[in-house]
Amino acid sequence: MIYTRVVRPALFRLGGGDPEIAHARTTAALRLLRPAAPLLRRYFGSGSPRTVFGVRFPNPVGLAAGMDKDGQHLRAWPALGFGFVEVGTVTRHPQPGNPVPRLFRLPASEALINRMGFNNAGADALADQLRALGPLPVPLGISIGKSKITPVDRAVEDYLASFRALRHFGDYFAINVSSPNTPGLRALQDRAALDTLLGALRQEATARLLVKIAPDLTEHAIAEVLEVCDTHRIDGIIATNTTLSRDGLAPADTPLATEPGGLSGRPLTTRARDVVAFIAKHTNGNLPIIGVGGILTPDDALSMLDAGASLLQTYTGLIYSGPGLVRRINRAVSGKGR
Ligand SMILES: Cc1cc2nc3c(=O)[nH]c(=O)nc-3n(C[C@H](O)[C@H](O)[C@H](O)COP(=O)(O)O)c2cc1C
Repeated sequence: MIYTRVVRPALFRLGGGDPEIAHARTTAALRLLRPAAPLLRRYFGSGSPRTVFGVRFPNPVGLAAGMDKDGQHLRAWPALGFGFVEVGTVTRHPQPGNPVPRLFRLPASEALINRMGFNNAGADALADQLRALGPLPVPLGISIGKSKITPVDRAVEDYLASFRALRHFGDYFAINVSSPNTPGLRALQDRAALDTLLGALRQEATARLLVKIAPDLTEHAIAEVLEVCDTHRIDGIIATNTTLSRDGLAPADTPLATEPGGLSGRPLTTRARDVVAFIAKHTNGNLPIIGVGGILTPDDALSMLDAGASLLQTYTGLIYSGPGLVRRINRAVSGKGR
């Protein structure tokens, strides 16, 4: 309540209302949490621990990729209660991303549209950062994607280079083939291209590999992705990334609907959950799923787990519901109320 009535309006006014400036300032302020991190973690992060694809998670609520691309706030997220963190997406080559403005709030719909375009300092810089940080109190996922300057037909080398730079640091690696903001990237979800990419990564690695998919795939296309994942012993699926659809927007937000980019938040809730349910059914519950997309309340989180997810992630929920969301989800999941 205090967050949505008082804190959120103030945050949304920061930087003259520019969401990217608000993001930079609030994440910079996370440094202030550092001295109290272990204490905060006990308060926010208690939940139901679980082991998924061989990794022990203190609770099932993770920070989704894109919030901390370069791993600059890795001590803060566990203090807010997250049971794991996915950094990135990083690319082999450092890159500035798309020109600003590239992040838009659609408050009436509790949604965001972004076309960040993988702005990041590159895989080597992330490796340096993680080396300097040392061990973390929660599992770490590392999301890797394709550099913009690398043509799609050379994508495999690009992913491999990022993976090689980071292989010692991740508890799992998310192979991002689903961001809508790098031209051609989503074509890597096609059967032949995905087969080549995952084959090359699997040959290189005994690491845990997960594939992150778009919510805009048909069931037939998802089934094909799952077949390829099975062939290469992929450890899990992250479902889903942002959508290109503009369904479910409140009328007040329609002026922004034409902005190119991926839509996240409330309009994605049902679709992401349906994709998770489809995957769980299609794999008889045998493939771990990280459910992400439009989790803004504890009920959304419980529905995602009911649909078959083993772990959860949130990004837009943190913006609209505030950091208390993580604790509320954890309490709900462990049956302690909301
Ligand atoms: C500003 C922004 C940047 C994002 N960047 C990435 C990214 O780099 N890699 C990725 O896999 N997903 C990225 N995502 C997608 C989120 O990880 C998540 O899959 C999606 O937003 C749906 O979850 P949500 O509704 O909880 O936000 C980004 C999302 C937003 C809003």
